[in-house]
Amino acid sequence: MALTDHDMARILVTLDDLETAVRINAALEGAGYSTSTLSPVDDARALLRRQTFDLILLTGAVREPPARKLSALARDAEITTLALLESTDPGTAEGAPDVTAVMTKPVGPDDVLLTVRRLLDRRGLQERTGIFGESAAIQELLVKIEQMAPVSSTVLIQGESGTGKELVAKALHDFSPRRGKPFIAVNCAALPETLLESELFGHEKGAFTGAAERRLGRFELADTGTIFLDEVGEIPPSTQVKLLRVLESRAFFRVGGVQPIKVDVRVVGATNQALRELVELGKFRDDLYYRLNVLNIYLPPLRERRSDIPLLVRRFIREFAQAHDRDFRGITTEAMQRLVEAPWPGNVRQLRNLIESMVVLAPGSEIRASDIPADVLEGAGRLLPMRISGQGREMPTQELEFILRNIMDLRMQVEELRRRMEDRPQRVQVIEIPQAQAEAEVVPEEEPAEAHAVLYKAGMTMADVEKAAIQAALEEFRGNRRRAAEVLGIGERTLYRKIKAYKLG
Ligand SMILES: Nc1ncnc2c1ncn2[C@@H]1O[C@H](COP(=O)(O)OP(=O)(O)OP(=O)(O)O)[C@@H](O)[C@H]1O
Ligand SMILES: [Mg+2]
Repeated sequence: MALTDHDMARILVTLDDLETAVRINAALEGAGYSTSTLSPVDDARALLRRQTFDLILLTGAVREPPARKLSALARDAEITTLALLESTDPGTAEGAPDVTAVMTKPVGPDDVLLTVRRLLDRRGLQERTGIFGESAAIQELLVKIEQMAPVSSTVLIQGESGTGKELVAKALHDFSPRRGKPFIAVNCAALPETLLESELFGHEKGAFTGAAERRLGRFELADTGTIFLDEVGEIPPSTQVKLLRVLESRAFFRVGGVQPIKVDVRVVGATNQALRELVELGKFRDDLYYRLNVLNIYLPPLRERRSDIPLLVRRFIREFAQAHDRDFRGITTEAMQRLVEAPWPGNVRQLRNLIESMVVLAPGSEIRASDIPADVLEGAGRLLPMRISGQGREMPTQELEFILRNIMDLRMQVEELRRRMEDRPQRVQVIEIPQAQAEAEVVPEEEPAEAHAVLYKAGMTMADVEKAAIQAALEEFRGNRRRAAEVLGIGERTLYRKIKAYKLG
């Protein structure tokens, strides 16, 4: 399957430079694109509401209000924009249009076609892989994925935590001829040595105490597909030898087995440690390092590719506004600027989690600079005890938001843990703590929970948390909806809607 598909791409051409527009429109149609045109007096907003476009071509007057308005609308709708500049236009000077790409006139239709195709390809790749970004690093990454996916050579993905290594590993599988076959992920850091071996290679009945049945290992389960060895730098030395043997011969023995097992597996490894340094420290075999590092992908930390941040922020806002059914306009310029400048030690994962919490908790319909928690801008993550209690005094909106945000953070961490556990069936047993006990752990004994305390409990959804917060606020103000809405930082009408939705009325 090709990574890109732009047969049916729809392009909007502005008529500001009529002559250029006519020539290029003809070329685009000739190349099979479906095009529409927009004159400076047409209502762009109405058109974009009626029709969807994959790309907007601004043919002229790109600094004038109509083009500016159109590119702002396009940006919000995540539509790629290409602007044709006059040769007299100052290049990137002040007032440069906010578009995806620019070309300077005179331009031939062929050059425009080529650029349009490249921009649509790039966009298609991002949609299909779920890997978004505008930085050169991400563009190169997508090209690499396209090149590396079809072959079966081993790939080593390196990058800090949260940079997208797993996303890349999945993309390598999904765009390879092995898609549709198993993709098996193993977190090598999660298991003690002996368990890791039997996890990877399986074991025969009676191989060790407790091995009551023969069990297939991950390599056998991944046969004809891909095995993803996450945190591969954590593999203990004795298992390193065995892994080396598999990489060399594609054959191995089950623990306690005498028959070699042959498999056809593509190996993708990932690590957030500098593997080469581990080799130099003698903690990782150099021969295994070279066997893993046949093809290499490095994901730079988010702070080194800040130009990705605006696109990621807008995507995540849309994603979570939809998921949580919130009518959301977006983010203020100032807030975006703060996010672009933040340190992001947790990389894209941290950014994504933050956007989810802000979309859920922002009092208005857009994220403002004041909605961004200070610790994000300072880079120091911290958790508070999770308890909200009115104690008969007014809870200032900000404090409430802050606490809710921490509940969100915690919920996300729990979710992440749960996801990791689910990735590893049979290895980790989830022990359910009875509710009463869970509460006892959260609330200090000397301070019994108030009637209107909001407690996070394992398994709560965001809706549950929201419902509980609304309930607590209503109780606190004895049903006074105006006060409750004020404290919750939402409009009264929103509160009415939610009271109805949660059947609290
Ligand atoms: N370029 C990107 N575009 C969109 N989403 C991304 C991008 N990079 C990462 N993400 C998202 O960020 C989160 C973290 O990504 P992922 O789990 O792949 O990171 P990782 O490098 O494997 O982290 P770790 O080392 O902690 O396992 C995921 O939700 C992923 O979908
Ligand atoms: Mg990972």
